[in-house]
Amino acid sequence: MMPPIKVGDSLDIILSNALSGKTLFKDRSALRSDYIPNNLPYRNDQITSIAQILSPILQNSKPSNLLLYGKTGSGKTAVAKYVLEKFQQATIKHDKQISLAYSNARLAGSEYRVLVDLGQSLNLKIPFTGLPLSEVLQRIFNHISQFNLKTIFVLDEIDFLGKHSYDDILYSLTRSNEHLGSGLLALIGISNDLNFKTFLDPRVLSSLDEEEVLFPPYTVEQLRDILSERVSLAFNKDTVRTSISNLCAALAGSEHGDARRAIDLLRVAGEVAEREAATTVEDRHVRIASQKIDQDRIFNAVKTLPLHEKVVLASVSLLPSISTTGQVFDKYQNLARGISLDPLTQRRVSALLSELDVQGLINANIINHGRHGRTKRITCLVPKDILDEIFSQNSQELHLLHS
Ligand SMILES: Nc1ncnc2c1ncn2[C@@H]1O[C@H](COP(=O)(O)OP(=O)(O)O)[C@@H](O)[C@H]1O
Ligand SMILES: [Mg+2]
Repeated sequence: MMPPIKVGDSLDIILSNALSGKTLFKDRSALRSDYIPNNLPYRNDQITSIAQILSPILQNSKPSNLLLYGKTGSGKTAVAKYVLEKFQQATIKHDKQISLAYSNARLAGSEYRVLVDLGQSLNLKIPFTGLPLSEVLQRIFNHISQFNLKTIFVLDEIDFLGKHSYDDILYSLTRSNEHLGSGLLALIGISNDLNFKTFLDPRVLSSLDEEEVLFPPYTVEQLRDILSERVSLAFNKDTVRTSISNLCAALAGSEHGDARRAIDLLRVAGEVAEREAATTVEDRHVRIASQKIDQDRIFNAVKTLPLHEKVVLASVSLLPSISTTGQVFDKYQNLARGISLDPLTQRRVSALLSELDVQGLINANIINHGRHGRTKRITCLVPKDILDEIFSQNSQELHLLHS
C-alpha cells in the first residue's frame, strides 16, 4: 500500500501539474453525455437506414414515421442527432427548408412540455401552461400548415410519457396528415424500453411503427474501439493506457454493452485520478469510479421514486432481511398512516414491489410451496446509508425511519 497522500501535498501536486500543463484531460467535453462525435463506428447500418427513410422529405413528400429502439447506451440519441445534423447541412447546402425539432420526454417531464419544445423549434411560442393539449396540438398543426413547414420531430425517451396517457398526443402526431392542410410532420420516436410497444394502443403503434430501426447493445470489442477514440480526444497522451480503457469496456459490457456507462467510467476514473493528483489513470481509479457510478445510480433511482414507492421501499428496508409480501404490506400500512398518507391496496403495493424489483432496488423471489401456494421473498438491495440520506432530506419522510 502506498502511504496516503496528505491534502497539502496533493494540492501542491495539483497546482504544479496544472501550471506545468501536466493535466490528465485534454478536452473534458468529449466525455460529456451530450457530446456527439464526428464518427460513430458500428452504427453505419442504422445511420443509412434512418437517412434513407427520411430522405423523401428532401423531395417534399412525407417520410414514414419511424421508431428507434434499443437499450440505454446503444447510441440511439447520438445517431438521431447526428443524422439530423447531416440533414441540416444538406438542406443549407441545397437551399431547401426543413424544420428539425427534438424533445426528450424524460427531461421535458410532460406531454405539454414536449409540445412546447416542438413549438419552440418551429418558432411558435406556446404559453408554458394553461392550454388544453388539443388546443396546443391544433396551434402547432395550424402553424405547420400556414408556413408549409416540412418538419422532422424526434421524440426521445418516448416511453417516459407515462404508460397510458400518451396515446392521444402520439395518435395525433403520428397521423398529422389528417390535420395538415399543407406542410408535413414526420415523427421519429426513440425508446430505451424494448417492451414499450406492448403498452401502446395498437392504432398508435401501427402509425408510429411504420418503420423501425433496432440498436443492438455493443459488444465488449466494439466498446473498446469506441473508448479508444474517446481517450485520444479527451485525455492527454500517455495518461490512459489501452489496458485501462479496455477495463472500462469490459466493466460496461458485463450487463449489456452500454457505451454511456463505458464513457462515464472513463470520465469518473479520470476525475478520481485527478483528485489524487495522479499523472496516469490506474486500475484502482476505474474500480472506485465503478462503485461511485453504481451508488449514484441507486441514489438517483430512489430519490426520484413516487412517494408511495418510497414508503414501500422503506418498509422493506425496515423488515428482517427476507420478508414476505404480507409483512411488507403491514409495515407499509403503518408507515403510510404514520405520515397521514392513505395506504394503497395490497394489490397496488404488490405491483409497486414488482417495479422496485425491475429497477434493481429490491430482490423479490417467488417461492413455490407446492399445494400450499406461493409467497414472495423480498430483500432490500439499497444500502442503508443511501436510504438514510434520502429520507433525511425530507422532514415528512424522516418520520419513516424513526417509526
Ligand atoms: N458508435 C458510437 N461511437 C462513439 N460514441 C458512441 C457510439 N454510440 C454511442 N456513443 C456514445 O455513448 C454515449 C451514449 O450514447 P447515446 O446515443 O446517448 O445512447 P442511447 O440514446 O441509446 O441511450 C454517448 O456519449 C454517445 O456519444
Ligand atoms: Mg438516449
